[in-house]
Amino acid sequence: MLLNLLGCREIINDLQGYYLSALSHIIIINISLYLNRMKKIVFIVGGAGYIGSHMAKHAALAGYDVVVLDNLSTGHKDAVKYGKFELCDIKDKTKLDALFKKYQPDAVMHFSAYSIVSESVVDPYKYYDNNVSGTLNLLKTMLDNHCNNVIFSSTAAVFGNPEYVPIDEEHIKKPINPYGRSKLMVEQILEDFSQAYNLKYLVFRYFNAAGHDVDGELSERHDPETHLLPLIMQAARGDRKNIAIFGTDYDTKDGTCIRDYIHVDDLCAAHLNGLNVFFNVGKEVHSNDFNLGNGSGFSVKEVISKVKELTNKDFTVVERERRSGDPAVLIASNIKASKILNFTPNKSKIEDIIKSLI
Ligand code: UFG
Repeated sequence: MLLNLLGCREIINDLQGYYLSALSHIIIINISLYLNRMKKIVFIVGGAGYIGSHMAKHAALAGYDVVVLDNLSTGHKDAVKYGKFELCDIKDKTKLDALFKKYQPDAVMHFSAYSIVSESVVDPYKYYDNNVSGTLNLLKTMLDNHCNNVIFSSTAAVFGNPEYVPIDEEHIKKPINPYGRSKLMVEQILEDFSQAYNLKYLVFRYFNAAGHDVDGELSERHDPETHLLPLIMQAARGDRKNIAIFGTDYDTKDGTCIRDYIHVDDLCAAHLNGLNVFFNVGKEVHSNDFNLGNGSGFSVKEVISKVKELTNKDFTVVERERRSGDPAVLIASNIKASKILNFTPNKSKIEDIIKSLI
């Protein structure tokens, strides 16, 4: 009898031990589910492209759960080095819907756009179809799935030919090509959606995004390449026979166009501050628009001679006609971004940008 009782006690002890350990497992699982849920999930749409792939790295290193969506029409799968990858076209509502249900993102960063001005002039349908209709699709899917936070990549091209520089957010918006118009249309859609559906948005207008990841993990790979700095670097490496200057008769100090070059890492840092606005700061900051540039300009000739100096390479420079649609000077005022977003372009000295490309 006593032995039986002792046996029972052992069984009871075993059972208690078992239940206690099961209970602690359940508690641990629930805590980790809770913590995982605390880790915000961010969709980086267009995350296989130049700026998007850098953003995925910055967001992942900052502790966000990153999911890259890209149709790989201009992006590269091997540029997705951080986060999960989902092949998806923003015009495919069914696929988008499935992905929003699968991951339940807390915010979306939208980089997915065609962005070659000259192409937009000869094929505007492509630009309005993807940049406007595709974005409408994405925004509708967000709202359908209760995801209300979006950061939208816009451009200096919404201003057209500036009436004054530095260009602040109040500057009149009169784009001179379909690319700029497609971006401005989305800016207006965001404003309307924010009024009607309580969508929270941040519009970031990039001036001339340039430079690479300082660890050398990521780069800029456009096909065809049309941007000044990557083309000059090709000339410096001997991968092209010369660099052409498009227009030497502009009303600027040396006759060539002046641009505001902003390091891609500084742009990404601004986006992280933007997420912080959504998740931590009060309602007054969103929804809002910001010009992102370093606030000073360099002429095409100045950029070329800086590259020659820093690479210690000489290469042929040829002078060509103006490229259509190029404003003489584009320089951002970043005062609003620095005041409200704490934006500091600390990697955007032209020397630092060029060094990141060497
Ligand atoms: N340029 C040359 N030679 C080249 C390439 C460019 O002289 O081989 C000149 C351009 O004429 C321009 C300047 O270098 O004056 C910068 O040209 P980019 O093509 O590098 O950049 P953009 O200023 O044309 O484009 C940027 C963004 C676009 C945006 C535009 C707004 O990349 O997305 O600003 O005007 F639409």
